[in-house]
Amino acid sequence: MTLDSFSDRHHGRAVFATMTSDDRAAIGTVRDDLRAAGYDEAGVRALLGMPVLDLHPAAFHHLDKHVLGADPLAAAIRLFLLDRAVDEQAGRALLSEPSLDVLLSLGVLDEADGGFRSQVHITCVNDLLLATDTGRYSDWWTGADDLSDRVMYIGYDSAGLANVAPRSRAKRTLDLCSGSGIQSLVASGYSDEVVGVDINPRAIRFARFNAALNGIENTTFVLGDLHEPVSDREFDRIVSNPPFVPEVPEGAHLLYRDGGPDGERLLAQIVSGARQVLAPGGLMSITTDLFNLEDLPRRIGEWLGAKDGFDVLVLAERQFRVWAYADTHASHAPTTRERTEYAARMVDALGDAGISTVHTGYIVVRRQPGGGPRPGTVQTVSIAGPVTRPTGSHVVDHFRFLDRDLDGHTDGILRPNPAVHLVSSAPPGGPETHQLVAPQDDYVADMDISDLTRKLWQATASSDVHWGVIRGSALESVARELVRQGALTLGDLPPAGGSRDD
Ligand SMILES: C[S@@+](CC[C@H](N)C(=O)[O-])C[C@H]1O[C@@H](n2cnc3c(N)ncnc32)[C@H](O)[C@@H]1O
Repeated sequence: MTLDSFSDRHHGRAVFATMTSDDRAAIGTVRDDLRAAGYDEAGVRALLGMPVLDLHPAAFHHLDKHVLGADPLAAAIRLFLLDRAVDEQAGRALLSEPSLDVLLSLGVLDEADGGFRSQVHITCVNDLLLATDTGRYSDWWTGADDLSDRVMYIGYDSAGLANVAPRSRAKRTLDLCSGSGIQSLVASGYSDEVVGVDINPRAIRFARFNAALNGIENTTFVLGDLHEPVSDREFDRIVSNPPFVPEVPEGAHLLYRDGGPDGERLLAQIVSGARQVLAPGGLMSITTDLFNLEDLPRRIGEWLGAKDGFDVLVLAERQFRVWAYADTHASHAPTTRERTEYAARMVDALGDAGISTVHTGYIVVRRQPGGGPRPGTVQTVSIAGPVTRPTGSHVVDHFRFLDRDLDGHTDGILRPNPAVHLVSSAPPGGPETHQLVAPQDDYVADMDISDLTRKLWQATASSDVHWGVIRGSALESVARELVRQGALTLGDLPPAGGSRDD
């Protein structure tokens, strides 16, 4: 498959013309112009009063008419988030001549009614600017027949995976199902080299544009089917946000969304592929909806072809009732009748696939480092979510604890997560209750804890509590649970002759 064979395909939508090296340089001026206008995640949030990922068409008119002024930041938001045209003066106040030239020549901007209109959304998230197709909101209801290869908007799953995947230094990272390139471009910050693979040629064009827009050069995007273009290589990190929504028979099909009848067609292949392309000690982080969570460890074992040699961490986020899950996929239907009918068909499709529970979430697969494979593990943790801030250190801590624990001889100090706070309250006449809460940590879910757990927690906060002492004691299961939930970590022993307070 080559890109050129698709290059003159035209949908009446953004079709990036092939970029020259001059274009790439000029795209840098677009980034500079947008940054100078304050167009970043914090700036947009402050002006709109909501996170950029929460933007919804129902809000567009209000924001356009009653919130945004006439400054360049407002023009950027109108153009690249609210699907509005801006007049020539506003466009030129935002974008310099070279920026306008390159965006017009690539087909990103059109001249419209004496001003400019964008063919794409540009979302600012994770310190990146990311162009995607517009029409996040299920416009397949319009009956248009050219929607299958849309390039996916930046969703909470996209931003969440970028934050769950550990950011410790890596040599080679593979991004399967790269779409806009968000995962690759975040990974470029901690990897020497990144390869993104997508089966949609339009996605490859968007991703290459986005690499240029963010001035990122250590990342290549390759057209292909999952591992096929890289099957002879090994990677120490893999990140993947595959299509995972169960298909509704006779529904409209979207390449970025459809995961086969049970939602797991691509997920199963990606997990299986770990044996081939994940290097020993490597980590593969995936975001997906988790169907029938209790049975998932068994299926993961099947996909891996026996778990030996792999450890798996399943992070379960929000749970949906099946009908509510179907409704989220139907919620933008033009009429209530169509919404109800589509949701009912999806409920039936989920029933036919044997799906009775749905959580949003993540799966992290670690190939055991060096040595002979030992029996694998699969553990499931409920996390707070949505994950909008980096939490990869918890994933690293999980595998570190596992290795030390299974080794059986390695001691360490149980350290409290500094983002976790103890909240105790005593209602009049009632017993005192305790909770651990971590409002600044998107991984750690609030926990109601017993008095015994509280005592252990307070001990770890005020002294060096050795795991070697806790292990085998009455407190072992309590400590394990706090470690599992990310409230405690297993730190190194202090150097001989000193303590951590020295
Ligand atoms: C859910 S989107 C993820 C986009 C992006 N990585 C993100 O995190 O926002 C899934 C992507 O998978 C791509 N895709 C679907 N089937 C594929 C396959 N067999 N091989 C590679 N990519 C595929 C789609 O084109 C789409 O870009």
